[in-house]
Amino acid sequence: MKSVASAPAKVILFGEHFIVYGGKAILCAIDKRITVESEIVNSDTIQIDSDLGSITVSKSEPVDKVDAKFRSVIFIAQKMLKQFNSKSGLKISIRSEIPAGVGLGSSSACCVASAGSIAGLFTRYSKQEILNLALEGERTVFERASGADTASCTFGGIVEYTKQGTKNLDLSPKFQLIIANSKIVHSTSDVVARVKQFKESKSDEFAILCDNESALIEEVLDALEKNNSKEIGEKMTVNQAHLQKIGVSNKTLDLMVQSVKDVSYGAKLTGAGDGGCIIALVDESNLKGTLNALSEHECFVTKIDTVGVEQKLVN
Ligand code: PMV
Repeated sequence: MKSVASAPAKVILFGEHFIVYGGKAILCAIDKRITVESEIVNSDTIQIDSDLGSITVSKSEPVDKVDAKFRSVIFIAQKMLKQFNSKSGLKISIRSEIPAGVGLGSSSACCVASAGSIAGLFTRYSKQEILNLALEGERTVFERASGADTASCTFGGIVEYTKQGTKNLDLSPKFQLIIANSKIVHSTSDVVARVKQFKESKSDEFAILCDNESALIEEVLDALEKNNSKEIGEKMTVNQAHLQKIGVSNKTLDLMVQSVKDVSYGAKLTGAGDGGCIIALVDESNLKGTLNALSEHECFVTKIDTVGVEQKLVN
């Protein structure tokens, strides 16, 4: 018997980086998935086969000695084997449609799908329990992770996230999102560390930006409620300016955002920045024009994933 779980990618609509310092973020799960299949095997190892490579480690391998690419999944596997007193090993296969390292939550979705799949071999976890396990796994690699990405990949839909918890916003938006990939791979932990330096060296400026971002997000929640795409887009452009000020945008991202300024409702980088993707907010009236403006870049129009993590047992 195999336990199969999948989880969606995500984009951060508003609030990246500021969320690390106690703000609110608004995220949207999107229709690209990572799928993890796991099965119990008669061995004392954990084997992972994935698009990023393969690894076999002993069940008792210290997790900090494991290649960072596989560490969170190995942690989740070891924790479950121990918790359910299993004498067996595990074979895990990971397949992803989510581009890695470009701010679409591939590592969070991997942690969520792995937690759902591996836990599903032993028990039936709620989404909240899957999230708790996934986040513990994610923090073995990225200690300061706010948990926003993991929550979005777990619950799906559009969520409002604070470190206190996740609120599913029950919305049927009129807008659509275009994602354009700069193809510049970033390291979230490096960018987060740089923002920490900014906060420490320019604490007053950072505090004002945090306040401005919080006020902006309250206005966005209102605009989302009213389904006002034009206003939501304009606020994305304001959010981009906050991200530029803390130094996480770059020339490529600025130019990409600039190129859709007059045609979309608004645009911003999404995720850690320093590369990765931008999102542009559109509807049917300006979708084609925005895609044309971004034609030099790999882009796609997303649908919202309303399901989040899914788990099933198969023979
Ligand atoms: O890893 P990314 O690119 O999806 O960005 C994570 C979002 C941050 O706010 C920068 C970090 C966090 O832990 O929330």
